[in-house]
Amino acid sequence: MGFVLGFILGAALGLGLIVGFARYQHIRSKNRSDLAATIAAFARMTVQDSRKLLPPESYPSWVVFTQRQKLTWLNHHLDKLWPYINEAASELIRSSVEPTLEEYRPAIIASLKFSKLTLGTVAPQFTGIAVIDGDVGEIVMELELQWDGNPSIIIDIETRVGVKLPIQVKNIGFTGVFRLMFKPLVDEFPCFGAVCYSLRQKKNLDFTLKVVGGEITAIPGISDSIEEMIRDAIEDSITWPVRKIVPILPGDYSDLELKPVGILDVKLVEAKELTNKDFIGKSDPYAELFIRPLRNRTKTSKTINNQINPIWNEHFEFIVEDVSTQNLTIRIYDDEGIQASEFIGCARILLKDLQPGKVKDVWLKLVKDLEIQRDTKNRGQVHLELLYCPFGSESALLTRFNPDFRLTDLEKALKQDIDSDDTEKPALHRKRDVIVRGVLSVTVISAEDLPATDFMGKSDPFVVLEMKKSKQKNKTRVLNDTLNPVWNQTFDFVVEDGLHDLLMLEVYDHDTFGKDKMGRCVMTLTRVILEEEFTDVFPVDGTPSGKLNLHLKWTPQLIVKE
Ligand SMILES: *[C@@H]1O[C@H](CO)[C@@H](O)[C@H](O)[C@H]1NC(C)=O
Ligand SMILES: *[C@@H]1O[C@H](CO)[C@@H](O)[C@H](O)[C@H]1NC(C)=O
Ligand SMILES: *[C@@H]1O[C@H](CO)[C@@H](O)[C@H](O)[C@H]1NC(C)=O
Ligand SMILES: *[C@@H]1O[C@H](CO)[C@@H](O)[C@H](O)[C@H]1NC(C)=O
Ligand SMILES: *[C@@H]1O[C@H](CO)[C@@H](O)[C@H](O)[C@H]1NC(C)=O
Repeated sequence: MGFVLGFILGAALGLGLIVGFARYQHIRSKNRSDLAATIAAFARMTVQDSRKLLPPESYPSWVVFTQRQKLTWLNHHLDKLWPYINEAASELIRSSVEPTLEEYRPAIIASLKFSKLTLGTVAPQFTGIAVIDGDVGEIVMELELQWDGNPSIIIDIETRVGVKLPIQVKNIGFTGVFRLMFKPLVDEFPCFGAVCYSLRQKKNLDFTLKVVGGEITAIPGISDSIEEMIRDAIEDSITWPVRKIVPILPGDYSDLELKPVGILDVKLVEAKELTNKDFIGKSDPYAELFIRPLRNRTKTSKTINNQINPIWNEHFEFIVEDVSTQNLTIRIYDDEGIQASEFIGCARILLKDLQPGKVKDVWLKLVKDLEIQRDTKNRGQVHLELLYCPFGSESALLTRFNPDFRLTDLEKALKQDIDSDDTEKPALHRKRDVIVRGVLSVTVISAEDLPATDFMGKSDPFVVLEMKKSKQKNKTRVLNDTLNPVWNQTFDFVVEDGLHDLLMLEVYDHDTFGKDKMGRCVMTLTRVILEEEFTDVFPVDGTPSGKLNLHLKWTPQLIVKE
């Protein structure tokens, strides 16, 4: 488990636990400095040795030269330290790990406490070591650690409905690569000011959950939630770019900490073809989105009842700390009321695939597990619109409205008002306070490849247009006996809040007894607001290959502050 592993790692290198021990006075100060000296010598020796062994240009970024002697040395020390670590662990976990786990606690669990913790008799083993060429003034090491342990960890859980359960976590199998950064390098003993450590790569993590004196399967949903919480806690609390900083010498090491670098704007538009989890009726889906699965940084959408093609049209913002490694994760669940929600599927997008300041519209395929991707079942897809804005930059959406020549005198006056109000806020935060108003003209040009609905292999299609937020509706005329209708009709909508409205087009087949829906197409107005005018082809969701040809035009009217 991440927290345990974190401690073990720190301990193994005499770092985390040196400090832990010092804090809890479990070790005399002499041992502590002996250990620190050894570690310092070891770290420096490794760099120099490796420089002698390999010319700098032949270093790959992750050098796995298994230096058997060094690993033996480390493992020997770890074996010796293990009983002490085991003894200290339960106290440390109670005082510092409980609050960590608490941050990842799912809503279904009302409280959790550790009641027993022994790390077992099997110490982890180091299976790989590498020295990375870091910046000047730091030493960077990567260590692979493997633990097939026999710990016994019991967590007392109380569920939201008042059920109390002692849950045992056992049979832990873990392999991962930890990164250690010794910095800043100083002249003073032990030659570095602080150590940062982080889980660079998780290669494997298995564990079993058991209800003490019962079967975990007797409480469906709970087991999944606990497993998810433990995995989230590990994946997030010590996984790179998140790092733990252990100050060795007194000093200010706040520059080593992870800091926010920008904001990710996410519009959760819709989902389609979600797996139906309910026997009666349809699923009641909602979404959970996060960059880091901390409880207070996870956003939850509304639940849409009885719908496998939900439209949410919700907007969320996330703090970004490291664009190169962080991802946005989305999980979709079926809301089961008082019971644990049922998982439908999840998806992930890498932030490094987003161009800063540029809106990206994506459909993500839902999978069961983000790591083991051999799931062939169709769980549905989710439609998002993403915009990453690094701090200090203005988004395209804002600069788009900046040129003053577009504005009338009244608007200029209004804008000045906005600007003078906002001088203290970073540019980025202005968007939220702005309402973008205008007229949207939609020309439904034609459709292609619509599915046949009558026995003659033809349909009588028409399109219903709807603005999701303002509920304005209109429709095209019905065209008889065609799968490739040409309407060429234009509709105007006055849009009050362009950044938060959606355009929905539904294609129907007219028949004597009513109408049958063939499919739909949902879009945000972001693109038309940015481009002012465009013609494009959109797939009709719900049909095998139906397409709509549309022309969209935006006539801006006014931008006012909310
Ligand atoms: C979330 O909780 C952590 C710890 O409880 C706290 O340090 C942090 O400021 C909180 N973040 C937000 C965005 O509220
Ligand atoms: C983001 O996703 C990539 C690719 O799936 C993965 O390798 C990486 O570990 C993820 N980053 C974090 C911080 O979880
Ligand atoms: C389409 O068919 C309906 C009945 O099937 C008929 O009433 C209508 O006049 C037809 N429209 C056109 C434009 O041919
Ligand atoms: C649609 O109508 C416009 C004029 O109203 C015309 O120029 C255009 O050619 C028409 N397009 C099609 C596909 O019929
Ligand atoms: C529907 O569209 C037509 C053609 O653009 C327009 O004349 C009519 O006023 C619209 N109806 C509504 C309710 O907006």
